[in-house]
Amino acid sequence: MVAMADIADYGENSRLGDEVYLGEPPAPPKEYYKAVVGIIESFCLDPAFSLLDVGCATGSFLATINGRWPRARMTGMDIHSDLLERAAASVAGADFITGSVLAADPALRDRFDVVTMMGVVSIFDDPTPAIANALSYTKPGGRVVIFTQTNDLPVDVLVRFALVEESERDKSWRTGLNVHSIATFERIREAVDPRAKSLWVDFVMPFPLDYKAPLRAWTTRVGDDPHAHINGLRMVPLMKIWVIERPS
Ligand SMILES: C[S@@+](CC[C@H](N)C(=O)[O-])C[C@H]1O[C@@H](n2cnc3c(N)ncnc32)[C@H](O)[C@@H]1O
Repeated sequence: MVAMADIADYGENSRLGDEVYLGEPPAPPKEYYKAVVGIIESFCLDPAFSLLDVGCATGSFLATINGRWPRARMTGMDIHSDLLERAAASVAGADFITGSVLAADPALRDRFDVVTMMGVVSIFDDPTPAIANALSYTKPGGRVVIFTQTNDLPVDVLVRFALVEESERDKSWRTGLNVHSIATFERIREAVDPRAKSLWVDFVMPFPLDYKAPLRAWTTRVGDDPHAHINGLRMVPLMKIWVIERPS
């Protein structure tokens, strides 16, 4: 369990949908970033380790990494070049790649000590290519660190959602809140590399967040958890950090 005594907020991650990342001032580190940093610390890496952040948006996690490990070699990947322009302007010394994690890039194979993917796998109906490519981008012995919503029951959920006003206007339906079960993620890992080790860590919010808007997450009591994550779809997924270690 990762219990962060100083967790004050999910930060800007408490929104749902990618467009919120544009047009926003830089925010303080998001709370799950701190949990992921704590997990990377446990790997005892060389301080000049290499990291690829898949779905880096405007680079706020890379800025957090740079603050903690100034010598880390950082690369950000995102499918949206406008987000990467913002990232390049705000994170010095990082490389950026416009591209999709769903398309294998041979130039990235075996290159990184750590590949992070936060808030990304729930975008895809089938996260298999994203997980396979991310693992192939690690060095042998490297780790993929995924922050995602998941389900400890053996049920997968594919979601399309829309704000009512917007859907009346243009009927555009959003993605990004799929819930793949731990059982499915483990099947994917087994298919991608049966020798890869798997570690699941709970993301724990130690205090409540109030409801602000339907496209922001907040917290509610569920069973023993006083601060379970809930979203505007009235979904209460488990928030977990999944570490996959590539065999050496
Ligand atoms: C919910 S945001 C999460 C941003 C950031 N990782 C964080 O946790 O703050 C998802 C990000 O994934 C990016 N993305 C969506 N599809 C992608 C793909 N196929 N390959 C790479 N990035 C993608 C989006 O542009 C967006 O920046």
